[in-house]
Amino acid sequence: MRRGIIIAAALLVVLGALGGGAVIGGPKVLEAMYPLPENGLIFPHNVHAGTEAGQLALECEFCHRTAEISRAATVPSLEQCMFCHKVVGDASERVGIVRAAWEAGKPLEWIRQHRIPDHTQFRHEPHLTAGFACSECHGDVGSVADQVTQVRALEMGDCVGCHKQNSAPAQCATCHT
Ligand code: HEC
Ligand code: HEC
Ligand code: HEC
Ligand code: HEC
Ligand code: HEC
Repeated sequence: MRRGIIIAAALLVVLGALGGGAVIGGPKVLEAMYPLPENGLIFPHNVHAGTEAGQLALECEFCHRTAEISRAATVPSLEQCMFCHKVVGDASERVGIVRAAWEAGKPLEWIRQHRIPDHTQFRHEPHLTAGFACSECHGDVGSVADQVTQVRALEMGDCVGCHKQNSAPAQCATCHT
């Protein structure tokens, strides 16, 4: 375990050095947003994003890069997982699933949990600019070991309620096209 963390730390330095080029510019976004994963892989957020001892404390945006700029926060490409998992996680069956997908040239598939209807619009960016943390709407994802689930209603009443509380626009056209 400790060795894995050290390797991951070294990789983080490498990833940092690669900067925008290889990591930010390059990743292929998963086109099919989380259909049913046939492989049954559950991604442990706590291992990667948790801040307790032995957890990697990666920033949410490290993987969900486009949260600030587009409607879709998106999940990272398999390529990005493999920066670490080419060498980290030999003993793990679940990492074996990740590697097998990589070797087969298949993207990992996920079940998408959050989705508002097409006739409504939501973008992450104004909310992040307004100062909300991810946890405001998604809960403490960094402590979740199992599949992330939706923890907040994020229905019209919830959206409008928060908009009113924060003097954000609440006309119908704000959210309905
Ligand atoms: C190492 C990469 C990585 C990091 C870091 C990461 N995530 Fe994720 N996240 C994923 C992957 C992969 C999925 C898709 C699998 C799943 O749904 O659990 C996902 C799914 C999610 C989902 C569910 C999306 C949906 O609707 O299905 C939310 C919400 C989320 N992440 C929030 C966060 C937050 C908040 C943080 C920071 C505390 C974070 N993530 C850090 C990789 C990451
Ligand atoms: C910055 C490096 C890094 C990145 C990027 C990364 N991981 Fe990990 N991951 C780790 C480390 C370190 C562990 C803990 C390994 C261990 O316990 O041997 C781990 C553990 C896991 C585990 C659980 C292993 C187990 O059985 O407990 C899974 C599954 C996993 N990662 C999948 C992914 C997926 C999928 C992605 C891409 C969305 C990803 N990881 C991105 C470093 C990373
Ligand atoms: C004000 C509430 C709010 C905040 C704050 C918020 N989200 Fe979301 N998130 C949502 C809603 C609503 C959806 C569904 C959007 C849709 O269906 O278009 C969503 C969807 C997602 C998804 C899955 C769908 C996708 O866009 O790919 C991920 C991953 C995600 N959020 C991650 C994050 C991360 C990471 C942060 C912090 C940087 C964050 N969110 C902050 C409300 C929020
Ligand atoms: C936690 C509080 C909160 C929640 C929950 C929330 N919002 Fe917001 N929303 C805001 C704030 C604050 C702004 C920023 C207003 C500004 O820039 O002045 C905003 C901005 C927006 C904007 C951009 C408005 C504009 O004209 O600039 C849209 C669209 C939006 N929200 C849609 C939604 C939808 C749809 C939901 C529910 C799925 C939602 N919001 C949930 C607080 C929230
Ligand atoms: C802050 C964002 C926001 C504002 C402002 C808003 N809505 Fe909505 N509305 C939503 C979201 C998100 C949904 C989809 C989730 C749901 O059904 O609650 C929705 C759903 C609806 C639906 C469909 C309900 C259903 O059963 O599918 C109607 C009708 C509607 N809104 C009308 C309005 C009218 C009329 C106004 C102005 C008085 C308005 N909305 C203002 C976000 C908003």
